[in-house]
Amino acid sequence: MNPFVYSHPVPPADLVDREEETAALVGLAEGGHAARLSAPRRYGKTSLLRKVKEDAEHAGMACVYVDLTRVVSLADVADVIEESYRRSLQGPLRRAAVLAIRSVSNVAVRPGGVGVELSGGAAKDAAARRLRQVLDLPLRVHGATGTRTLVIFDEFQELLRAGEDLDGLLRSRIQHHTTEASYLYAGSHPGLMQQLFATEERPLFGQARPIALTPLRDEDLGAFVAERFEATGRDAGEALERLLDVAGGHPQRAMMLAHHTWERTEPGGTADAAIFAAALGVAQAEARDALQALWDRLPHSERVVLSTVAAGRPPLNARALELAEVGKTTARVARDRLIAAGVLADRDGAIAFTDPLLPYFVGGLDRVED
Ligand SMILES: Nc1ncnc2c1ncn2[C@@H]1O[C@H](COP(=O)(O)OP(=O)(O)O)[C@@H](O)[C@H]1O
Ligand SMILES: [Mg+2]
Repeated sequence: MNPFVYSHPVPPADLVDREEETAALVGLAEGGHAARLSAPRRYGKTSLLRKVKEDAEHAGMACVYVDLTRVVSLADVADVIEESYRRSLQGPLRRAAVLAIRSVSNVAVRPGGVGVELSGGAAKDAAARRLRQVLDLPLRVHGATGTRTLVIFDEFQELLRAGEDLDGLLRSRIQHHTTEASYLYAGSHPGLMQQLFATEERPLFGQARPIALTPLRDEDLGAFVAERFEATGRDAGEALERLLDVAGGHPQRAMMLAHHTWERTEPGGTADAAIFAAALGVAQAEARDALQALWDRLPHSERVVLSTVAAGRPPLNARALELAEVGKTTARVARDRLIAAGVLADRDGAIAFTDPLLPYFVGGLDRVED
């Protein structure tokens, strides 16, 4: 069995590093503080949250993991939260939550449940009422068991798609949960997370301690990949260094490259540069549709900035902008939008690609291997 997983969040035992982040997040939760974890997609947020959940449970908290990925309405948010309590909790904690949910659902109107079709406005009011009650579940769990709940919201920025003022509604409830709950907000869009928590007009302004997910260190990544090769009777050989160079600490891309390299290494054999080159080709082919979809969504100015960075120049390189007929102000806006979306990252003043496979795509180099 290939020991490298890259297509879904990994269980705590497969996590490389992240000890510091885990300890910080669990510590904040125990102390009743809220935290926010912001990092681009595929950077290991959900995997880390699983570990945090495990550790928080060991520390005696009830821990509810809420994935907001596809919520589109107020009622959706309430449904997802409700379901999360059922899924995340066990024993007396689950019982307390389920009984509380049933009492909430009895008074609220649910689609298909009561046989009365409410008008738009009334339905929205009813949904908002139910959401408030569902958000107050930690009070009920605490009342019944004396246990603090850690509520983890994953893909938290999606809350705003379900309703523009939902951060206000959320704030109005959780401000009363000082001993009953702690909150952890994770998000994939650094710009939207910034907007939610670092803009003065927003209700959650200053309400959560920011924790960053940096690229993985080469020592940690290298040791993990080498050990897993060894444990399965193979040697990562020359491929290891190439892999670390290309991945640049990107967690999912590193695992993807390791997976394909391992796949091409004979049992008892050693991975070399040729094997790595083939693995890189496969990884690029696999990523191409998603990268193409990203590219297709971008306006001209953002494409120009990406091409410029892919060619190894600063994003606002005067000659590149002139050739592509993009003004400096437009380019600056484009650069900042790409950073906000997590496509580019500002690493100590140097602008870099978040996804190490994207510069190959932008530069047309991904086709060489075909
Ligand atoms: N710390 C880590 N150790 C090992 N693999 C990781 C780590 N972080 C992320 N990954 C890899 O990246 C992939 C995506 O991780 P995930 O937790 O789903 O990211 P996100 O929630 O940020 O999109 C996982 O399948 C896993 O292969
Ligand atoms: Mg995730």
